[in-house]
This record gives sequence, C-alpha cells and structure tokens, in this order.
Amino acid sequence: MNKIYIVYWSGTGNTEKMAKMIGEGVISEGREAEVIEVSKLKAEVLKEVPVFALGCPPMGAEELEEEYMEPFVAEVEKFAQGKKIGLFGSYGWGDCEWMSDWAARFIRAGAEIVNGTGVTVLGEPDEETLDKCYQLGKNLTFL
Ligand SMILES: Cc1cc2nc3c(=O)[nH]c(=O)nc-3n(C[C@H](O)[C@H](O)[C@H](O)COP(=O)(O)O)c2cc1C
Repeated sequence: MNKIYIVYWSGTGNTEKMAKMIGEGVISEGREAEVIEVSKLKAEVLKEVPVFALGCPPMGAEELEEEYMEPFVAEVEKFAQGKKIGLFGSYGWGDCEWMSDWAARFIRAGAEIVNGTGVTVLGEPDEETLDKCYQLGKNLTFL
C-alpha cells in the first residue's frame, strides 16, 4: 500500500495543525502518513500515488504561497488527471476564493477533489475543523 502524502505550506502554523490532524486520521485507519512541508518534497513523487492531500493558506490576493506552493501545484497539475486530492488551508478574511480557485484548477486538470471541496477555517483551526481534518484523513484511506 502506498503511503499517503499530506503536503503543506504554513507561515504561522494554522495550516500545519490541519495537516497533522489529517495525518492522524490516515494513521487511525492503519495506513502510513507522510506529513511534509512542501519545500522538502519533489512534486514528481506524487506522480506515483493515486491519493494525496495539499494544504496552503491564501498569501496575497487569494493566491497560493508563491515561492514553494504555487510552483509545486503547477507541477502537480501536469499529472493530476485521475488523482484524488484532498485540499485544506486556513485563511484570514473574505470568502475562500483561493480555495474555490485552487479546486477548480485541479478539476480542470482532471482530478477529483476528495469530499467535493477543501477544508477551510478562519484563523486557527477549532475543534470542529480538526474533526473535519481527521475525517478527511480517514476518507483518503478509503479511496
Ligand atoms: C502576506 C499575507 C497575505 C495574505 N493574503 C490573504 C488573502 O488574500 N486572503 C485571506 O483570506 N487571507 C490572507 N492572509 C491571511 C492568512 O491566510 C491567514 O493568516 C492564515 O491563517 C495563515 O495560515 P498559516 O498559519 O497556515 O500560515 C494573508 C496573510 C499574509 C501574511
């Protein structure tokens, strides 16, 4: 069985907390989780796996963090056809346009967004959000 990668970028730790909880959900189903900061992984590793999760907050006009996550996502888009991708991230204001744009990019590339939409939270993840993350981790193992 492939391990499940949960790849994230997080400036102040909110999205990182979500990533770790998704990892806990994966582990609770007896699967191996690799929760890894985006700068430490080559995108091509994900080419080999059918299911994974990506997390990033909006960092400037509803955009993904530009130094690491944006180029990483641009690479993943090239082989996203048929992949099942969980998305998540914390945001600071507004209506989560960054997340709907992000999901739309992957859908255009032929991927499926696990649970239909990303898990989002305003600021620090609360209990309810952490539960959603844990459940997302479990769901990744059922695919
Ligand atoms: C430079 C910068 C740009 C940001 N741009 C947005 C934005 O466009 N929309 C938004 O909702 N939040 C924005 N935020 C807020 C962050 O997304 C928010 O603080 C989030 O919780 C950070 O998650 P993290 O702790 O995982 O880094 C911005 C924050 C910074 C520092």
